[in-house]
Amino acid sequence: MNAGERRLASLAAALIGDAAALSLAETKLLARAHPLDAHVVAEARARILAGEDPLGTEFCTLRSAEQRRQRGATYTPTSIVDAMVAWAHAEISTPARVVDPGAGSGRFLIAAARKFPDAELIAIDIDPLAALMLRANARVLGFADRLVVQLVDYRSLVLPAIAGPTLFIGNPPYVRHHDIAEHWKAWFADTAKRFGFTASKLAGLHIHFFFKTRELARAGDYGAFITAAEWLDVNYGGVLRRMLADGLGGTAVHIIDPKAQPFADALTTGAITCFRVGSRPAEIVMRSVDALADLAPLGHGRAVAWNEIAGAPKWSVFVREQPQAPAGFIELGELFRVHRGQVTGGNDVWIDSDAGREVPKRFKPFTVTRARELLVAGAELTSTKGLHRVIDLPADLDVLDADERKAVQRFLTWARRHGAHESYIATHRRAWWSVGLRAPAPILCTYMARQAPTFVRNRVKARHINIAHGLYPRAPLGDVALAAVVAYLRRHTSTAGGRTYAGGLVKFEPKELERILLPRVEDIHGYLAESAPAPQALDGSGVGSGRGRGQEQLSR
Ligand SMILES: C[S@@+](CC[C@H](N)C(=O)[O-])C[C@H]1O[C@@H](n2cnc3c(N)ncnc32)[C@H](O)[C@@H]1O
Repeated sequence: MNAGERRLASLAAALIGDAAALSLAETKLLARAHPLDAHVVAEARARILAGEDPLGTEFCTLRSAEQRRQRGATYTPTSIVDAMVAWAHAEISTPARVVDPGAGSGRFLIAAARKFPDAELIAIDIDPLAALMLRANARVLGFADRLVVQLVDYRSLVLPAIAGPTLFIGNPPYVRHHDIAEHWKAWFADTAKRFGFTASKLAGLHIHFFFKTRELARAGDYGAFITAAEWLDVNYGGVLRRMLADGLGGTAVHIIDPKAQPFADALTTGAITCFRVGSRPAEIVMRSVDALADLAPLGHGRAVAWNEIAGAPKWSVFVREQPQAPAGFIELGELFRVHRGQVTGGNDVWIDSDAGREVPKRFKPFTVTRARELLVAGAELTSTKGLHRVIDLPADLDVLDADERKAVQRFLTWARRHGAHESYIATHRRAWWSVGLRAPAPILCTYMARQAPTFVRNRVKARHINIAHGLYPRAPLGDVALAAVVAYLRRHTSTAGGRTYAGGLVKFEPKELERILLPRVEDIHGYLAESAPAPQALDGSGVGSGRGRGQEQLSR
């Protein structure tokens, strides 16, 4: 403990007054405490009474962001605490007990103590200095007699049964899986399994906290946690998404833009997840908030049917408000399925080069491998000139004749030497050598650029890799209709409806592209003739949850 922390512990102890209540770990912290001037203590007390958290604020300046990250200690701004506690109060005004997992200086419990004057308050933290700060706040604010502070790992907490609902509320620590001990990963896998889910070892500590809460909670209990938002979209978050749909009773997710700084130390998107254990409402509310001033009340947002969202691989796309399409317009997704091109797992190997010259041409289709190829094509891609071939071998090499087989083996030996069999993508394919390009899409489009997506009619039946999306008609569409759709989209599509990334890149996921509006096919010619202005997309601005992450390159 450094001098600043010793001083902070001394100040907390002076505010608590009664050393009998302290745990052994807290008492040890105080061993080297020293008396403080009475006016310092009086000033801290006055600030606490005025609604500030001087101890928590000092804690955050004493320990660097780097030191605090090890325990995921990022304290929550008041506006978020207040919005969440107000939501809890509107849900159930008299919980029997409030549990704050990872309580820190007690910002949630202080607000909860005011809103729920009869509730028992339980704080859990592993940091004795946090426990001291919280006790000091509780003593000054007069709720120490109904507060229990447990200095334990939340995952090992045992809660006695109680009559009436328990509210779980707080900001679970964000600690990445690299810093989680193996035995806790095993605990997580077992716990998830007991509830019928398969957990990923990549899950961070905040996901463990959700599962511990599921383990502790009984039907009728409820809660709200603020965490980083990435679990909405990443693979390891799937286990939480499934549990919200099945058992934890997810009722709402409010996504907070990083610009609003939901976490003081990091430019990260926040997500407030509200749940009611044992319930399975027909809908979950999804909402995106740009500024903390707009956060409260948490009751509203876009209601999304559970059967629409439960199995979806990414949830952040559901926050967009979805007004009715204007009369005569439909969503692109009604006409086309939009698919991103295949990821090769190693363009240096799979995009044809001299090493693949012996591979038979029928396994090397012309492929759009750079966005530029679409950007310069105009409305129609009419020539394969300038396109590369991609080596796309069958999973079953027995379909090759003996000579072909030898030639292909020579290429595969070369590919192995370049590690092509070890890439993440290759190890997840049925056969590592089989890229599995999608069928030629009649319309191709760019989806990440500093400009609107460019749509191109694919006359040469080129394949595409993951720098482009392909539009596949849901029902057969003739040449005239396809040409009209391309002409309309080229004229009317803007960047609205995509996500803006750092540096001004605008990215459209397939689902976002499917929301672009266009007239019914039979009316398009009228619009083209008139060149009338047209609506762009049903939804609003970008979510930003992936800001700065995964910026697929425009070109190889
Ligand atoms: C994100 S902070 C939240 C603090 C406070 N609730 C707030 O919102 O201002 C997370 C807290 O969890 C505590 N913590 C970290 N790992 C923990 C664990 N395994 N069990 C219990 N608490 C833990 C940290 O010490 C830290 O105080």
